[in-house]
Amino acid sequence: MPDWKHHVFVCTNKRPPGHPKGSCADRGCAEVAAALSAAVEMDDDLLETVKVQTTNCLGPCRSGPTFVVYPEGVWYGGVTAADVGEIVREHFRGGRPVARCLLGSG
Ligand code: FES
Repeated sequence: MPDWKHHVFVCTNKRPPGHPKGSCADRGCAEVAAALSAAVEMDDDLLETVKVQTTNCLGPCRSGPTFVVYPEGVWYGGVTAADVGEIVREHFRGGRPVARCLLGSG
């Protein structure tokens, strides 16, 4: 069984148009999930230590796109694909979550 250092769950939930909560799909989660997956898949070290999975609603819908990194339970919100490189470098490689992208920081 793999021993992931970081297990990343990215919300890709989509709700119907006009839903009061909206959804991460409305806010660009597909691009964020694709950027995270691509960054990991292109790096042999990260492939062995980071697992990226898409998931349904994580709860903080209005702050999407959201994802959570376990086992530490670090939440990101309002992330764009342009933020992914910094998150991979600082958090997944360096062990330092990117404060400006954390849920509730914006
Ligand atoms: S729709 Fe993504 S957290 Fe709810």
